[in-house]
Amino acid sequence: MLWKISIRALLSLAAFSLAACSDDYTPKANATGKRIYLEACATCHAAEPGTTDMYWTIDVKNANATYVAHKVHTGSLTMPSFPNIKGAKMRQLGEFVLSHSLRK
Ligand code: HEC
Repeated sequence: MLWKISIRALLSLAAFSLAACSDDYTPKANATGKRIYLEACATCHAAEPGTTDMYWTIDVKNANATYVAHKVHTGSLTMPSFPNIKGAKMRQLGEFVLSHSLRK
C-alpha cells in the first residue's frame, strides 16, 4: 500500500516537472514586444518588478534574433519553452529583448 502511494507521488511529480518545461502563454494579436516581455518573461528577467531593465547580459556572439528565438522555443532546465510565441510576435519580442539587454 505504501509502495503504491509513493509510485503515484513520483508520477505526479514527474508530470508536474514536465509541465513546468513548457509554457502555453500565447500573445494577443495586438501585443507589442514589450507587452509580451512583461507578460511572459519579466517574472524571471526583470531587474526590478514592472520595469523593462533585464538582469541578464547576452554574449555579443548571441545577440541576434535567431538566438533569442531559439532560446524562447527550446528553453532550458531553468527556463520554460514558449512554443506559442512565433512568427511576427517572436520578431517583435526579439527586437524588444535585443534593444533592452546588455552585452558582454
Ligand atoms: C521561469 C523563469 C524564466 C522565464 C519565465 C523566462 N526565462 Fe529566460 N532565462 C531564465 C534563466 C534562469 C536563464 C539563464 C539560464 C539559461 O540560459 O537557461 C534564462 C536565459 C535566457 C536567455 C539567454 C541569455 C544569455 O545570456 O544567453 C534569453 C535570451 C532569455 N532567457 C529570454 C527569455 C524570454 C524572451 C522570455 C519570455 C518569453 C524568457 N526568457 C522567460 C529564466 C526564465
